[in-house]
This record gives sequence, structure tokens and C-alpha cells, in this order.
Amino acid sequence: MQNYKALIERYDKSNMLALLHSFPEQCELALEIALRYPLHLKKKTYENIFIQGMGGSGISGVIVKDLLQNMCKVPIVVNNDYALPEFVGEKTLAFFVSYSGNTEETLTCFRKARARKASIVCVSSDGKLAKMCRNCIRIPQGKPPRTMLGFLSLPLLVTVARAQLLKKPLALNSLPRFLKRELSGAERAGKKLAKNLYGKIPVIYAANSYQSLALRFHTQLAENSGMFSHWNVLPEANHNEIVGFKPKEKSLAFVFFRSKDETDRMQKRFEFTKKLVSKRSESVEIWLKGKTHAERLFYGILIGDFASYYLALLNRKDPSDIKNINALKKTLSR
Ligand code: F6R
Repeated sequence: MQNYKALIERYDKSNMLALLHSFPEQCELALEIALRYPLHLKKKTYENIFIQGMGGSGISGVIVKDLLQNMCKVPIVVNNDYALPEFVGEKTLAFFVSYSGNTEETLTCFRKARARKASIVCVSSDGKLAKMCRNCIRIPQGKPPRTMLGFLSLPLLVTVARAQLLKKPLALNSLPRFLKRELSGAERAGKKLAKNLYGKIPVIYAANSYQSLALRFHTQLAENSGMFSHWNVLPEANHNEIVGFKPKEKSLAFVFFRSKDETDRMQKRFEFTKKLVSKRSESVEIWLKGKTHAERLFYGILIGDFASYYLALLNRKDPSDIKNINALKKTLSR
């Protein structure tokens, strides 16, 4: 097994590892903050939920959609653009999530939604958004947004429940305890996965209800590890992408996130797809532990986060460094 001690000292300059290790406590605090927040929502019937955010903040919208869309009374729409969809209006519960509070796409949509009198709730640590929004759930500042996923996502789930838009109670109480218990196992699994993926182009597959997990792993591999990857979900990928598999894809390594809540039909799809790619490429299956959908999703996210962290070290990269994003933001600010 690779000895990471020297690599951590040399490359993890901002101690991202400590942030990964404190993720269960972060989730605990995030739930407390969200439950305590004095929410001022107008008493009205919402017809839809809109969630806007980019990158490490925007993924929280996809998590909400994955976890709530089958138990929510109204449709949930996630947006990652400058343009605000036409349906957003007085009957919308609109969330704007930006860790820095200064992301221009999110600020643009926020201003438009405010003009259309949507009920707005923001999640931010600082910046223009925190200043402009009267309903802003403030979270601790000064960290890379992608390491604050508990703070950025859990308040949204709690707020949707508090707005009485769910058909079933939200079962999140046990999540921090579960993550604490599974943390070291997830780290071991992440290290093992890093070894499987080192030097390869990862191709990540998950079931549609775990879309945020596949997307999160893809984005963490880019930002933390400096690696290009591809992701998709089943069943959709079975209707097109599987035709594109070539017989000699040695540079690819396939990751399948599996879970015991898969239906028989989905199991067959996973098995077929895995068999197809395993002929020539390396393939790894990660079984998601947990009793609830949320536990399984966040357990998978932990494994992916640790894998991306250890891959950064294997690639001799500081996991906190996001040079290209910073350069682009500087160019846009000129
Ligand atoms: C950086 C990161 C980025 C940012 C994104 C939006 O850690 O993950 O993807 O999250 O550029 O910025 P914020 O989150 O400040 O709205």
C-alpha cells in the first residue's frame, strides 16, 4: 500500500484532508443551522421549486433533486446558467446557493427572481448574495466551496421540509452518526479506488437517482485530482452510449456505483453494461452502504471525495489548487 505521509506533507498545503475528516461534523452543524434558521416564508402554496448554483455550490441542487423528487409535492428544477426560466414567479420557492456569494450567474438569476417576486432563500457564507438576500442561511466562510457540501446542501433539504412540501418526513437525523461510523471505511475504499483509477480516464456510472453522486465524483476528479473523467447514468446510457464502447479501451477505468435499492430491471442493466466494458477495460463496483437514500448517496460522495484526494497526491497535485477556474474568474472580472 502506498505510503501517503510524505505526499500529504508536500502537496496538501491547505490541509484538505482535515476538511474531509470533519465532514460528518459539518453535516451535524449544517442540520442544526438549518433547523434553527428563522425562516420567513410567505404562507402560500408553492407550485414549483427552483434551485440555482454553480460548481461546488450548484451540485447541492442536484442532490436535492435526487433525494426529494419522488416525495415532493411540486416539481424541482435545477439551473446552472445566467438565464432564469420563464416559469419562475410568485408561486416559486427559489433557492440561490453560492458559497462565495459572488458567482455572477447566480447573482444574475437572483436579481431576476427577486424582480418576479419569487419566495427566495439563499445559502451563502458571504459576498453580495448574503448582503442582498433577506432570507440568507449563513454558513462558515473561508474554505474551498467543494469542501462545504454538507453546509451547501442539507439546509435546502431541511427548508423544503419546513415549507411543508414533502409527502413523507425527511429522515436526516441519523445521517451525521452514520457518516461518523463509516468515515474510516470510506477513506479506505477511496484509497483503493484511487489506486484503480491512477493513470486512467475514469468513466463513472450510477443509477439515475444517484446522478449527483456521479456528477460530484466527476467534478472532484477535475478540481481535486486534475483529471479528466466522464459520467453518465443508467438507464439513459443504455440507450446510446453503450454502442460507443470500443474493444480496446485500455486507458479507461469504469466505476459503477451500485445500491441495494436497485430494481430487478436496473440490476440487469448494470450487469449487462459491466460485462460489456469489462472485456477490455478495468471495472470497479462500489456498493453503497446505508439504510436511507441520503445515507447511501453521502456515503458514495465520501468515497469519491477521498478517492479524488488520494489521486491528487498520486498525481503530485495540491488538491486545493484550482488554477484554471481562478484564471477564468480573473479574466471575467476585468
Ligand atoms: C471551488 C469550487 C467551484 C465553485 C464555483 C462557484 O471549490 O468548487 O466549483 O463552487 O466556481 O463558486 P461559488 O461556490 O462561490 O458560488
